[in-house]
Amino acid sequence: MKICVMPGDGIGREIVAQALRVLDKVTEKFGTAFEIEEALIGGCAIDATGSPLPEATVKLCQAADAVLLGAVGGPKWDSIDPAIRPERGLLGIRKALGLFANLRPASLFQELKHACYLRPDIVAKGIDLLVVRELTGGAYFGTPKGIEVRDGERVGFNNMIYSEHEIRRIAKVGFEAAMKRRKKLCSVDKANVLDVSRLWREIVLEVAKDYPEVELSHLYVDNAAMQLVRDPSQFDVIVTENLFGDILSDEASVITGSIGMLPSASVGEKNPGIFEPIHGSAPDIAGQDKANPLATILSVAMLLRYSRSDMGEQASLIEGAVQKTLAQGFRTGDIREEGCKLIGCKAMGDAVLANM
Ligand code: IPM
Ligand code: MG
Repeated sequence: MKICVMPGDGIGREIVAQALRVLDKVTEKFGTAFEIEEALIGGCAIDATGSPLPEATVKLCQAADAVLLGAVGGPKWDSIDPAIRPERGLLGIRKALGLFANLRPASLFQELKHACYLRPDIVAKGIDLLVVRELTGGAYFGTPKGIEVRDGERVGFNNMIYSEHEIRRIAKVGFEAAMKRRKKLCSVDKANVLDVSRLWREIVLEVAKDYPEVELSHLYVDNAAMQLVRDPSQFDVIVTENLFGDILSDEASVITGSIGMLPSASVGEKNPGIFEPIHGSAPDIAGQDKANPLATILSVAMLLRYSRSDMGEQASLIEGAVQKTLAQGFRTGDIREEGCKLIGCKAMGDAVLANM
């Protein structure tokens, strides 16, 4: 299996290094061979080539079976021309590979209950939800967009635009995901104000006819944001457009208290998917061996499971090893608690390997 690895910026290289050791262990135990190619994306790509997404990176990704990504961005590139910001690299590769569906699970690890930001009586009901975020449309990519002078002052504008086929295909991903889980789907929009959302809701209702077993509900995005903190246990799968999904997936993941634990997958129709931790490049702790590699290690598990149907066993082995490592009391700084063993990024990798 060919994997294109893009460590990116900040803590990216450290966390990806641990994830690659996990892949080596999979090879050792199962004999599966992985061919690893490294590519540049984000700030490091800007430094090396002037572009956050060099053509060579797109080619390597297209030729791979799956892509493993660390994180991009950092203060070093904050004042750079917006057209070549590190984030452009990420948006560019999603678009180039046609990865229109972003799957972001947010679940509470029993071992990390104390880290959850919500009241114990709310936590007790559990958190296990999946945000399905549309990833290649909406205001992120819609045109016209820009900043221009009108009537003597500057105006800035973006266009939240969706065509029916874009809504239909992401709705399908949402329903399919719900079918594999607790069969509940909540579609989030702003249909009380936005025309684009009225169409969204109409199409979701249409697709729903093919999934009679799924219990479908609709929430306006402001209410959804509120319900997520009030009672996250009410959600199974949430499907929503790009910008709403960007915001809600951060909210959903942070309430679990362990954003450093959560993997994600971006998938399309035919190209390889991108698998990456939900968290960012954490420049404040980069290079200090403090980062939590578990989200990236769990992204490897997701990569194996989603890219190749025959690698569920390998994926489960990794997930089980992570769980065991937490149960043994090993913690990085972001999930530290009294009485536990505070360790660094590499030592966390060691512990997971030992448990595999
Ligand atoms: C994410 C990030 C990206 C996004 C940024 C870095 C472009 O916030 O993956 O959620 O907004 O999609
Ligand atoms: Mg985001």
